Amino acid sequence: MSSSLSILRVLVWAAVLGICNGGVTSQFTRKSGKPKVMPFGSDVFAIPPGYNAPQQIGFGSCFQCHVPRALTPAEEDVLEAFAPAVPVLVVHITQGDDVGEGVIVMWITQDEPGSSTVLYGTTEDDLDRRSTDGSFRTYRFFNYTSGYIHHCHLRNLKYNTKYYYMVGIGLTTRMFCFITPPEVGLDVPYTFGLIGDLGQSYDSNVTLSQYEANGKGQTLLMVGDLSYADEHPYHDNRRWDTFGRFIERNIAYQPWIWAAGNHEIDFAPEIGETVPFKPYKHRYRTPYRVSHSTSPLWYSIKRASAYIIVLSSYSAYGKYTPQFKWLEAEFPKVNRSETPWLIVMLHSPWYNSYNYHYMEGESMRVMFESWFVKYKVDVVFAGHVHAYERSYRVSNIAYNVVNGKCTPVFDESAPVYITIGDGGNLEGLATNMTFPQPNYSAFREASFGYAMFEIKNRTHAYYEWHRNQDSVAVVADSMVFYNRYWYPIHES
Ligand SMILES: [Fe+2]
Repeated sequence: MSSSLSILRVLVWAAVLGICNGGVTSQFTRKSGKPKVMPFGSDVFAIPPGYNAPQQIGFGSCFQCHVPRALTPAEEDVLEAFAPAVPVLVVHITQGDDVGEGVIVMWITQDEPGSSTVLYGTTEDDLDRRSTDGSFRTYRFFNYTSGYIHHCHLRNLKYNTKYYYMVGIGLTTRMFCFITPPEVGLDVPYTFGLIGDLGQSYDSNVTLSQYEANGKGQTLLMVGDLSYADEHPYHDNRRWDTFGRFIERNIAYQPWIWAAGNHEIDFAPEIGETVPFKPYKHRYRTPYRVSHSTSPLWYSIKRASAYIIVLSSYSAYGKYTPQFKWLEAEFPKVNRSETPWLIVMLHSPWYNSYNYHYMEGESMRVMFESWFVKYKVDVVFAGHVHAYERSYRVSNIAYNVVNGKCTPVFDESAPVYITIGDGGNLEGLATNMTFPQPNYSAFREASFGYAMFEIKNRTHAYYEWHRNQDSVAVVADSMVFYNRYWYPIHES
């Protein structure tokens, strides 16, 4: 008895001194087996009927804008002379500029193009503005032909304002609404939701429903792997459509900021499809040009008090490549007196202690990690691994080929790395972890869930992860973040 007590004491002290292993491996009972994809006929994929299409019910404060109505005479005046009645499918919005005064609206009409115009305004009954720079395009993928994919920019919006917008101008219209962010600034509170590797399984539906029920998220950061269409025969692109209809109930009302994952690549030479990211780039636009990026796969935006850099794990990032040169020029532009919180999103995690995708992010870490430390990134959100993990503040940048210094060490200038690839996917949870838990790993658990990053002011942010099996009020993991620029002391 006394000897086992001594061993326990040694283990506790070893853990305290950081010489034994990392943090907590949660033993929460995990869901086993493969998630089941929701069939085509599921109600979450329902196609809205044609004439005067009724709205899908969203949630929370936007309920009032779901009521379909006829156009007013003034609205009729600004329409094109004729637009055929076609159902409008798959509406989504994302930030359309670098500071949050713009929105990109995307929707699809299936049978005919119809109008690419968006009517919008701050009053539901008076949509007094219209955006006419919209356009549509289609694409083919093997034996699939897409519907007419419309994109339209709404510009020069007022901050912190609720806008109603209408698409499908003609006989079939649908109305939605969104709230613009507050003006970019130092102590502007704002809450970002976090979901990764969502997919369209029954578990995906639980994740999105739990996120909606939580209600705190004002903008969703989606860290890649969206539809998992490539898991279906011939990359069945109808699954891109069902995914779009599935998430519409949220993304039509609040912007999602997305990074590209491996399931967005859709590279399938065996069926003649050799253009990477074809469906993704046709459907999910980003405001990359305003951050002087040359690709929609990497870009940055400012929103409230956050500067968000989105990287592509599946595009070249070696020295001299476009992504490398862009990021090299990007970091010095970040003004922490304007946007105190520096957030990076990418798909393949750099610090991962599961036996899935282990070290897949290593080559990008080698290229970029020293910049992350130099410019004091607050937090890095990744997905890819179908589980949850939060790291300590660590870096591994001392190695120079011959000095042997290749172990992560605690570093107060380093970001916290969070893997949030537990949205629902189609492949199952990553339940197999490395043991002992590495020093860099603070908390890990293989459960489906989502997270919230609540910025309070320039110095503090509150982060929490929720697992799907719990009620919304239960927090499964949390951390108070101290800003690396304004309050760079150890959180513990
Ligand atoms: Fe992935």
